[in-house]
Amino acid sequence: MTRVAVLGATGAVGQRFIQLLSDHPTFEIAALTASADSAGSPYREAAKWRVDTPIPEAVADVEVVETTPEAVPDDVDLIFSSLPSSVAERVESDFCEAGYVVSSNSSNERGADDVPLVIPEINPDHLDLIEVQRDNRGWDGALVKNPNCSTITMVPTLATLDAFGLERVHVSTLQAVSGAGYSGVTSMEILDNVIPYIGGEEEKMETESRKLLGEFDGSQVQWHDVEVSASCNRVATLDGHLENVWAELSDDPTVAEIYAAFDDAATQDLHSAPDPLIETFDEPDRPQPRLDRFLGNGMAVAAGGVQETPAGVQYNTLAHNTLRGAAGASLLNGELLDRNGWL
Ligand SMILES: NC(=O)c1ccc[n+]([C@@H]2O[C@H](COP(=O)([O-])OP(=O)(O)OC[C@H]3O[C@@H](n4cnc5c(N)ncnc54)[C@H](OP(=O)(O)O)[C@@H]3O)[C@@H](O)[C@H]2O)c1
Repeated sequence: MTRVAVLGATGAVGQRFIQLLSDHPTFEIAALTASADSAGSPYREAAKWRVDTPIPEAVADVEVVETTPEAVPDDVDLIFSSLPSSVAERVESDFCEAGYVVSSNSSNERGADDVPLVIPEINPDHLDLIEVQRDNRGWDGALVKNPNCSTITMVPTLATLDAFGLERVHVSTLQAVSGAGYSGVTSMEILDNVIPYIGGEEEKMETESRKLLGEFDGSQVQWHDVEVSASCNRVATLDGHLENVWAELSDDPTVAEIYAAFDDAATQDLHSAPDPLIETFDEPDRPQPRLDRFLGNGMAVAAGGVQETPAGVQYNTLAHNTLRGAAGASLLNGELLDRNGWL
């Protein structure tokens, strides 16, 4: 078994890690960390458990420790990180310096030249950037990132459309409240409302997409030159980000060819990887968050409503933001790191 630790284990994403790891065939939890306020308490007290399955017995009485390399056992092979990015910025490099491989959700360093930003089905080869990172930083460990939840919802479809000459993308999102963490949006703000602003989200979609779709030439990632313009909205759904995408292509595929390309999107032979990656719908009113966020155990992306418009090919896409968009994304990167011999 591969021994893993979760940093920020009490939070919204941390709890999803616990849920996903509780019956994982090759990863076992060796340590759970959180803030100094939670350290020293049993997990069941430190975490206000909100996931829709019971708190796993195996972790309920585990003592939460502080988020420092010294507090984590030496025999841990892989660290999953779901810390606020301001905290991750300070501590993740300490873990990498101490020799740990960190698969992180936090937004710090996603754009760094020597940090792999990876979706296993899209750009698994970017993981080899770890060699460059180790040379640059003198680390025995490594830092690998998954993209933001709104980016990961859209990029699998964009990677597929790239075969038709992807030139320009406009996207408008309808993002669930869990994407902001438990204390992110109050009920008074979001009930009966839509908030047409999510700090930093539009920039993340515009830049992370280009890095993910880029080519790794052995020493650096040449970012894709697609232009992405995003408008991000918070809506009163609990989980599942729905996105309306307009993609301008240099070729002129039919709607049927686009559906066929989505259906044939590349998959990975990893425990948590869905097959198919993209579940498509012919119905014009799908996908919907409540109906479709758990496709592929919450790891698939749903797409539907494909149509030709004067502004390009238009479609709707959806993914579960704390599963495929966060904990599941890091977990899948962890499985890829393990399979490719990086641990
Ligand atoms: N929610 C999503 O859909 C989503 C999607 C993609 C990426 N992300 C990213 O994932 C990260 C976690 O998000 P979240 O929604 O899970 O946040 P959250 O619910 O606020 O949880 C934050 C976690 O970090 C811990 N923490 C806070 N301050 C700390 C400190 N100074 N030292 C050590 N640990 C500290 C908290 O521990 P305590 O309980 O002790 O405070 C908690 O375990 C963020 O970077 C976020 O941007 C989230």
